This record gives sequence, C-alpha cells and structure tokens, in this order.
Amino acid sequence: MTSITEIAPDVYRLSTYDPKIDLQFIQFLVKDEQPLLFHTGLKGMFSVVRDAVDQIIDSSQIRWISFSHFEADECGSLNEWLAIAPNAQTVCSPIAAFVSVDDFAIRPAKSLQHNEVLNTGKYRFQFQHTPQVPHGWDAGLFFETTHKTLFCSDLFHQFGDVEPITESDVIERSRQTIINYEASPFPNYIPYTTHTDRILQELAALKPRTLATMHGTTFVGDGERALQDLGVMLREVLLLKQ
Ligand SMILES: [Fe+2]
Ligand SMILES: [Fe+2]
Repeated sequence: MTSITEIAPDVYRLSTYDPKIDLQFIQFLVKDEQPLLFHTGLKGMFSVVRDAVDQIIDSSQIRWISFSHFEADECGSLNEWLAIAPNAQTVCSPIAAFVSVDDFAIRPAKSLQHNEVLNTGKYRFQFQHTPQVPHGWDAGLFFETTHKTLFCSDLFHQFGDVEPITESDVIERSRQTIINYEASPFPNYIPYTTHTDRILQELAALKPRTLATMHGTTFVGDGERALQDLGVMLREVLLLKQ
C-alpha cells in the first residue's frame, strides 16, 4: 500500500513502507507539462510505484526520470520505466551516465553539469553535483527553483513509518539513524569527506523551503538552517565520534 501526499504544489510523495526493515521507500512525482519522476524505487517495487503514479497522471507520459546516485532503491526499475514511457529519458550527472546508466539502461541518459537547469514546463530544476553527498561519486541532487524544494535523496534519512510531512526538526531522528548505522553490521552509510561541509553549505545557500527526503518525513521550514545543522551533526557523529 503506497501513501500519496502532495508535499509542495504539483510534487507528490509516494511512500511505500517495508515493515521488515522499518523503512519507507519514497519516490517523488512532479506533475508538469513534462512530468518528472525522482527515484524509481527498487525493481521489485515497480508495479506498486506505477500504480501510485497512475493515480496522479498516466504513467506512460513520464518524460524525465532522475535520481541521486546509481543504487537499486534510486533507479532499480529504470528500464521498466523507460519501457512503459516511450518519451522518457534519464537525467543524471555525467559520471552516473558514463560509469553506469549508459551501459545499464535501454536508452542513453541526458547528463547535466553542476548548476545546469532542466525545464519541465512550469518548473525549473537546478542540478547540483554533490560527489559523496549523500554517497557515491556520481551523486547529484535537484532543486526546484519556484517553490524551493530540494530533492535530497538519502540526506535526513529516518527509520519508521513516519508522517509524510512535518514542520518539526528532523535532525535528531537523522542523528539516531546515522548512529544506528555506524553501530550496525553495515557502517559507513554516509561518508564524511573533505568536500562534505562545502557541499552542504552550498545546498544551504539555496535556501530550500521543502526538503524532500527519500526515507522519512518531508521537512517544511527553514531548509538553510536544517542543512547547516545536518552538517554539524554529521561532523559530530562521523568525524568527531561524539
Ligand atoms: Fe543511497
Ligand atoms: Fe536511498
């Protein structure tokens, strides 16, 4: 069962909760002249996600498919989507296209440089190349410039079947997630590199109003402050081990 919430004008959050791992897998659909799907979800989730998209638009009309980095929950059903949406094209970082997508996918990707803009009709999406943020050298994020929504992938990751949207601080939930990962058999989920602080500061300078995270509640409020706080938290937990 997928829950659907409009988290910003024309931006729909499609959330499917997996109780076995206590985690939501979320895709974002932007309804515009050229509809955009941000994250496809896992390959095994394809029919569930397609059914959710079909409640909002005809899924065969998807024009753009994007995601932060090449990983199964981000783009596992990319080829299934490219097959049912004949005009759909992948849009990603040049590294993602070169290293993975142009070999894996049934059609070549359109790649965007840092700060390059994708126009979908009413909306403009500014691409941010963010190597290793949240992870993967191919990582990138999209910023919708009208309503100031940042599609932030695994940043602000939270466990649980949480509420779709909140105006309350999500940093402590995210801190607990990172701490739990570090203590688990699967540490090093988010790396802290020599570029992490600079990249988070650049994202904060965009002053997003909505932070559309892939696993957890969408935060609405002072996104600049939230990203600065995220930087402090990641530094404390990953670098200083506090
Ligand atoms: Fe990821
Ligand atoms: Fe993810």
